[in-house]
Amino acid sequence: MLGGAGNNSFEIEYVNTLAKGMEALDDESFDLVLLDLQLPDSEGLGTFSELHERYPLIPIIVLTGTSDEDLALKAVQLGAQDYLIKGEVDVTQLKRSIKYALERQRDLNNRKSIEKALFEEKERLSVTLSSIGDGVIATDTEGSVVLINRIAERLTGWSHAEAVGKFIEDVFFIVNVESGEREASPVSKAINANNVVGLESGTVLITKGREGCRYVSASSSPIRDRDGIIIGVVLVFRDITELKKLEEELLKVQKLESIGVLAGGVAHDFNNLLTSIMGNISLSSLPDISDEKVKQRLFHALKACHMAKDLSSQLLTFSKGGALENRTVMSLEKVIRETANFTMSGSNIDFNFVVGENLWTVEIDEGQISQVISNMLINAAQAMTNEGKITIKIENAEARKEKGIPLDDGKYVKTTITDEGIGIPKEYLSRIFDPYFTTKQTGNGLGLSTSYSIIKKHGGYITVQSELHIGTKFVIYLPAKGRHVRAEAKSDQPIKRGRGRVLIMDDKIEVREAAGEMLRHIGYEVEFARDGSEALRHYKRAKMEGEPFDTVIMDLTVPGGMGGKEAIEKLLLFDPGVKAIVSSGYSSDPVLEKYRKYGFKGVLPKPYEMGKLSDVLYGVLAESN
Ligand SMILES: Nc1ncnc2c1ncn2[C@@H]1O[C@H](COP(=O)(O)OP(=O)(O)OP(=O)(O)O)[C@@H](O)[C@H]1O
Ligand SMILES: [Mg+2]
Repeated sequence: MLGGAGNNSFEIEYVNTLAKGMEALDDESFDLVLLDLQLPDSEGLGTFSELHERYPLIPIIVLTGTSDEDLALKAVQLGAQDYLIKGEVDVTQLKRSIKYALERQRDLNNRKSIEKALFEEKERLSVTLSSIGDGVIATDTEGSVVLINRIAERLTGWSHAEAVGKFIEDVFFIVNVESGEREASPVSKAINANNVVGLESGTVLITKGREGCRYVSASSSPIRDRDGIIIGVVLVFRDITELKKLEEELLKVQKLESIGVLAGGVAHDFNNLLTSIMGNISLSSLPDISDEKVKQRLFHALKACHMAKDLSSQLLTFSKGGALENRTVMSLEKVIRETANFTMSGSNIDFNFVVGENLWTVEIDEGQISQVISNMLINAAQAMTNEGKITIKIENAEARKEKGIPLDDGKYVKTTITDEGIGIPKEYLSRIFDPYFTTKQTGNGLGLSTSYSIIKKHGGYITVQSELHIGTKFVIYLPAKGRHVRAEAKSDQPIKRGRGRVLIMDDKIEVREAAGEMLRHIGYEVEFARDGSEALRHYKRAKMEGEPFDTVIMDLTVPGGMGGKEAIEKLLLFDPGVKAIVSSGYSSDPVLEKYRKYGFKGVLPKPYEMGKLSDVLYGVLAESN
């Protein structure tokens, strides 16, 4: 029939048994089999099944007799492409049936090969996932787990079967180790951020049944389909518990090393001082020594004792307590400018300021912060042998915008001191803040460590960046506090020279010396007293000797001694016309505000410079009684 079909589109081979058919199929390739279910060596559905199982890709059209139509239908259900009833077929029908069968089988084969490829891909993915060293969990956009690999099963304690379909936060249960609080799911974070997100450091994963916990690091990223639409999230995490332990151990070792260096340094310094003390005392007990010499020796011994005392108080800044602090809200710029001018006077190194607008105020112990700035500048100057300059930049900063700075959120005033000196070798960078670490012949190695603890106690932070032979940059953050700084009165207030005798009462030698120096410079004669009673004595004596003081500048608070408020009462009893000026660093003290009510003629808030000092003095002295 087909042979005579006319258009020669078929090549036909005939066999009369199933065995011969299979032989032929093994030897040659055929596009289609027309199969009679009733053959000499096989009959019924078995004929079809045997052939189809062995050659699943070849389409088969089944031929049956009229009485066997049911059988033929079953063959089609099992995979035959079609059936024809012998004696009822014409050429066109046969040709059409063959064409359809070929077409359908081709489709089927295509689909099968795609399925096979997909299956292989899936196998590969699952083998990859299970052999990855990290835990992997994939979720849908709602956060339901759709996949969890073996490592993730082990780390979370949830098996694949248990985890799939569960909410990610139940399976990946994480807690911040410091606060003890539960952390939000990285899955929702990734979706909200529409980006890869990591975990906070110090996150621990709690295993199923709360049996164990491990430090983990993780990153989760959205999974997108071809059109870029998020269809889920993949979370990759790893156990970093061992790493954390290692870090802690390392830190301990480093701390021990620092303590070792510190102890060595303290011992060295104290031994020197003790040598001086012991030497001088033993010299003063020699039998034939004169009284004058004994006095001298004891004086030297006492001096060494004082140095020992200073050293111990410097060491105390490292401890929690430390010296009494005296914090005031003030402008950092002013403190820094004054310290820099003072520290750098006499040096020929160029330094300049870059100051941001509307700087916030800070609440600081002026003396301590000034010590920090001075340490930094001295270090910078020591690092620059010949040329180069130091730049001091002061600006407002917000913690969350500063990268990698471990500070609480909030406002800070940021001071950057940049030098163009020799720089710090990388291997020293982690040690320069250690007490007694120094690379200098005559250094103590206490400058930076003292600075570090002062800044820390102020709630701030100090960091360093350095490049060898290029320079070093120290950055100091201090929390902003209090009223915002108004534009400071310019410090170029004109200096008014004058004449007269001035008594300065202050418990701090630095204050006495600085004020004395300034006053002498602008034409006054100066004497000093350390507290109220000494001031009274000096004042009375001078008056009696006929050389009275024209004015007295008195500090308001004298720890352990008579302060300005009590002293002025007594002075007024002795000399109602006394022209006294009250001075204090506690700018909010009511005595400063209502100084006249207390009997003072003028007020001089600390800190002050020459212009202000001369102005107040001039005003008070010009006032007639
Ligand atoms: N600006 C800088 N440039 C280069 N090196 C620096 C700088 N600042 C600090 N260092 C290095 O850090 C070390 C420690 O500084 P630190 O101020 O603590 O001690 P010191 O200056 O050596 O001694 P001290 O300040 O007690 O007199 C210095 O010896 C130096 O090696
Ligand atoms: Mg130093």
